[in-house]
Amino acid sequence: MNRITSRIDTGTTEFADNHAAYQALVATLRERQEFAISGGRGRQRSIERHLSRGKVLVRERIDLVTDNNTPFLEFSSLAAWGQYDDEVPGAGIVTGIGVVHGVPWVFVANDATVKGGSLVPMAIKKQVRAQDIALENGLGVIYLVDSGGAFLPLQDEIFPDKDHFGGGFYRQARMSAMGLPQLSVVLGPCTAGGAYVPALSDEVIMVEGIGRIFLGGPPIVKAALGEIVDQDELGGAVKHTRVSGVSDYLAQTEREAYGKLREICETTNQRRVDQRQSWLDWQPVEPPAYPAEDLYGIVSADDRIPFDATEIIARLVDGSRFAEFKPEWGESIVTGFARIHGHMVGVIANNGIIFSESALKAAHFIELCEQRRIPLLFLQNTSGYMVGSDSEAGGIAKNGAKMVAAVANATVPKYTVLIGGSYGAGNYGMCGRGFNPRFLFAWPNSRIATMAADTAETVLVDIRRAGMKGAETSEEELAEIARSIREQYETQSDPYHATSRMWDDGLIDPVHTRDALGLCLSLAARQDEPAAGPGIVYRM
Ligand code: COA
Repeated sequence: MNRITSRIDTGTTEFADNHAAYQALVATLRERQEFAISGGRGRQRSIERHLSRGKVLVRERIDLVTDNNTPFLEFSSLAAWGQYDDEVPGAGIVTGIGVVHGVPWVFVANDATVKGGSLVPMAIKKQVRAQDIALENGLGVIYLVDSGGAFLPLQDEIFPDKDHFGGGFYRQARMSAMGLPQLSVVLGPCTAGGAYVPALSDEVIMVEGIGRIFLGGPPIVKAALGEIVDQDELGGAVKHTRVSGVSDYLAQTEREAYGKLREICETTNQRRVDQRQSWLDWQPVEPPAYPAEDLYGIVSADDRIPFDATEIIARLVDGSRFAEFKPEWGESIVTGFARIHGHMVGVIANNGIIFSESALKAAHFIELCEQRRIPLLFLQNTSGYMVGSDSEAGGIAKNGAKMVAAVANATVPKYTVLIGGSYGAGNYGMCGRGFNPRFLFAWPNSRIATMAADTAETVLVDIRRAGMKGAETSEEELAEIARSIREQYETQSDPYHATSRMWDDGLIDPVHTRDALGLCLSLAARQDEPAAGPGIVYRM
């Protein structure tokens, strides 16, 4: 494969200005992630109380379980950002992929320093998403349980619907049956519904003095039966390991429990990551020829100024080598083959608006990757499909649909990174959340909405002017409509608004993108080859 020759001059003022602007975005991201780890109203007191009970903090727990010097890919660290009066940082739960004895596992760990580890709606969404990641990538799940169960004031948003609390238990049972191990360590309360997390696990460890499982806690037992009983007598680690058998192992300390957990992991007969034995073509890893830090200077600080997708690809792929497909046609989408951490991947990246030719080229390329069983990587930066009478006459609606259909029907693993704008149906054709990419990450400069704020403002003001209420709407009222629509679109297309609602699996610093994708691809490489689907018909 040929090496991309970069045309970026890193000595220009424009590059320096973009670089400086991106540094500010990254600083904000770090600051907000730090808030998710230890911030929030009254959080310091909760952390101190947690530590004073001899308990370990949630991320340290994960660290104690995982192999030394291995990465932990955390998901949606800013879920719930700006929601629930900012009192539930990270949605009170940590999820991600870590390595134990060389095998990747999904972790679901309650953060008891946030609302007692109780589960707000975004926490349920985060847990269920982590389980879906496990299911799709063939990973076992480790639950580090320390939770007050459902966050009761919002019970109607958590409890009864599909993919609510019950959906988590459903997935546990299904994954266990499929041979994806479900292991729990009980490090705090598991009350009511929460009791089913360990109860549905294949193996359970409880830590004496802190771990407790009961369907109803002491106050409920007193109210229902008049029975007065303390927490440990009712559902402590000794009771459940030696009497009820709900738990399989008793540990005196958290550290002892993690040692035991690592031993259990060793007995689960799960595949390690070994690229050489994979269905997915792999070559020894070669770092990109250009530094990842250049990405900061390439992405325009002003999102109306486009940047070249090929320059991004050059900083993500092995050796900056790229076999471009159809380079002379449909140039607003760049397609081609490359490797990331040795794994072959088909890259589809936007260079602005999607025209009919670029949509057809993308559909053709997706078909090639499907036929050759090569995973797809979508790099989104588009304002959407081209509008206008020429475009309609050229069949943009149908040609765009061909691309959308090809994405929907591709059975190879798909991965998406929002590197810029993700507007309109461009979000769909470029494998947005609705098209089930295995992972979707976003850069902190990205924007996601039906359309840009200034377009929405114009459209809605014009609709009002031309509509039934047009004649009775004053210029002042129209100006107010324009202002409020612009404000709403700007707020809602902000990447923190998106990541808070988990429209992605997390915001990432551009320089970490290559490693995150390499890890994700290594998970697919470790599985069996995905079964081919009915085929993609893009030439309708
Ligand atoms: N719903 C809503 N809020 C809850 C909650 C729940 N299930 N469990 C805990 N919280 C909140 C508390 O109100 C408190 O909020 P605050 O910080 O705003 O005051 C915070 O979490 C910490 O709770 P606290 O009781 O002070 O902490 P603790 O560590 O001493 O005890 C629990 C933690 C989980 C043992 C205890 O809060 C508890 O028993 N909760 C209720 C459990 C329950 O019955 N769940 C039923 C689920 S169906």
